[in-house]
Amino acid sequence: MAGKPVLFQELDSVSPQESLAGRDLCSAADLTPGELAAILQLAHDVKLNPANYRWALDARQMVMFFEKASLRTRLTFETAINTLGGSAVFVDQTQSPLGERESLADIARNVERWVSVIVLRTYAHETITEMAQYASVPVVNALSDLEHPCQAIADFMTLEERFGNLRGFNFTYVGDGNNVCHSLMLIAALLGAHCTVGTPRNYAPKADIVAQARAIANTTGSHITLVNDPIAAVSGADAVYTDVCTSMGFEHEATKRAPIFKPYQVNETLLSYAAPTAVFMHCLPAHRNAEVTDAVLDGPQSVVFGQAENRMHAQKALLLMLLGKGGAHPGARNGGGL
Ligand code: CP
Ligand code: NVA
Repeated sequence: MAGKPVLFQELDSVSPQESLAGRDLCSAADLTPGELAAILQLAHDVKLNPANYRWALDARQMVMFFEKASLRTRLTFETAINTLGGSAVFVDQTQSPLGERESLADIARNVERWVSVIVLRTYAHETITEMAQYASVPVVNALSDLEHPCQAIADFMTLEERFGNLRGFNFTYVGDGNNVCHSLMLIAALLGAHCTVGTPRNYAPKADIVAQARAIANTTGSHITLVNDPIAAVSGADAVYTDVCTSMGFEHEATKRAPIFKPYQVNETLLSYAAPTAVFMHCLPAHRNAEVTDAVLDGPQSVVFGQAENRMHAQKALLLMLLGKGGAHPGARNGGGL
């Protein structure tokens, strides 16, 4: 769906609820700071008061086309829409990429007549942007090779729960400069949190995403810093985040990457350089004792299962906003449907 606003052209007369209704979420950078703040505020309320939203998306249909495996994203989207009164249709595309049997445009022109929202997990990011271009209903990125915005929104919701306002917060990501890293950088910048990324030399995040994050950070007063030294990256951090060294689609590089990423493993020694109050974060699934040790993943600083839980609450808020039901208590009784 077209109509993405230019960043920060938020008109006082248009609320985030109004500006987000009918929109796509292909990239974390599709959001303005005000829109992200509104999604997060709603996510906290949905988590605290789920009954108020029970029928907000009554009878709405959501289709999910997934080219890659998923536990958390699939189940949290399905449970989110089910508990808002709608339902989900899951289409396994792991054996035949989207666009192979018929064009993305033709898929979009069919599906938009049956459902209210399309959720995509793909290899090529362009599959998502192309579907968004053709579909008249909102399209949501549930992970592409470039980004994982729903993950990053839930992760910063988890940090807000523990630390409150995140302006000036020191967020660190160590490991592969991948899809998750990209969305985290963008969401950190939108919230005014400082973001330090520590990667091996040839595994830095993409330059255009770094530039996008820095452009946002300039307006919110935060800094995006790239380093190669894992200890420098983690020193003084309020949160330390890592992800697998080999994302889906890169499995053939696992043997080559393992020794390169060894110094970036989050273990008790590396974590000891962070602030004493720091939390450890991971999007999961984790490769235990590869990018993170059991002691850290299962340790007292780990918030990984809280992150996983918040995927559902954050996606409920996102669905409510994109489907035009982001107002206060839209579904307290049966009146919040179509
Ligand atoms: N974190 C995440 O997206 O998990 P899944 O791949 O299981 O969906
Ligand atoms: N970077 C990982 C995240 C999985 C949730 C991948 O793309 O496989």
